[in-house]
Amino acid sequence: MSSTTVPRDLPPTITWERDRIVLLDQTRLPELHRVEVTTVDGLVDAIRRLVVRGAPALGVAGAYGVALAARDGGDLREDAERIASARPTAANLRRGVERALAAPDPLAAAHAFRDEDVAACRAIGARGAALLGELCGERPLRLHTHCNAGALACVEWGTALGVVRSLHASGRVELVVADETRPLLQGSRITAVELQALGVPHRVVVDGAAASVIARGLVDAVVVGADRIAANGDVANKIGTYPLALAAARAGIPFVVAAPETTVDAATPDGAAIEIEERDAAEVVAGADAWNPAFDVTPADLVTAIVTDTRTWRP
Ligand code: MRU
Repeated sequence: MSSTTVPRDLPPTITWERDRIVLLDQTRLPELHRVEVTTVDGLVDAIRRLVVRGAPALGVAGAYGVALAARDGGDLREDAERIASARPTAANLRRGVERALAAPDPLAAAHAFRDEDVAACRAIGARGAALLGELCGERPLRLHTHCNAGALACVEWGTALGVVRSLHASGRVELVVADETRPLLQGSRITAVELQALGVPHRVVVDGAAASVIARGLVDAVVVGADRIAANGDVANKIGTYPLALAAARAGIPFVVAAPETTVDAATPDGAAIEIEERDAAEVVAGADAWNPAFDVTPADLVTAIVTDTRTWRP
């Protein structure tokens, strides 16, 4: 399937069809192309290239990857480890892999993991909308977000954008400011597409404009997703998130993190213990050297609240 216009109903991020994984190719958005993944090698490549991306979607892809591996009859533990280590920062990827690996029926476990993510996102949306009402008032809000923490980063609905959707459903979103999100443009290519499909008023800004947007009082709160949350509440998310938290603290507006419990990693004591993925310099510049960390860590003391599917945590 291929299209250049954005329909109201975007294709699903990830499905299991006829014994294979079908992904919406997120490297090609806003064009809509679906790709079939039939092997573990193909899945590892798709994860590394960000064909599928976003912590919750990676978790579900990992679980389905184990189902693929089990069907193919290779060394299941070795295949599972290759999938789990394809990207290091998102806690959900290894969690999804381990869940399917521990189950007598990996495919049934992957389906269950997928369904739990859908339910978790709905719960985060409702809880986050209620919290923002408490923090900012019941008026239509101007919200700032980074990267893409929407349906396309999950199975459906989204985490940070799930909160936006829940607020939008009750007419309480005036504007979403979406950071472009260098270098792979998840904000301008993916979040903007989702918000357009949903009919949510939005504006994309370049990453360098974000702190100034906050300082000028153009947004009421920042809402972002997370790739891994340490036991002390430090939050790893897409590079460029930490500056938003600094700017929000300086401006005295809430900085809210929305993520499922599958992103919380009790085994990681703090942000210093989180492995930050380093990506290819070629994503940043052609023909010169670059440093390309994909994530940063926001310390817990800059986080107003972490909204998960089961709790509102003020670290
Ligand atoms: O490199 P990506 O696109 O996988 O990074 C995604 C993010 O940083 C998201 O904000 C995070 O995974 C939360 S998605 C609900």
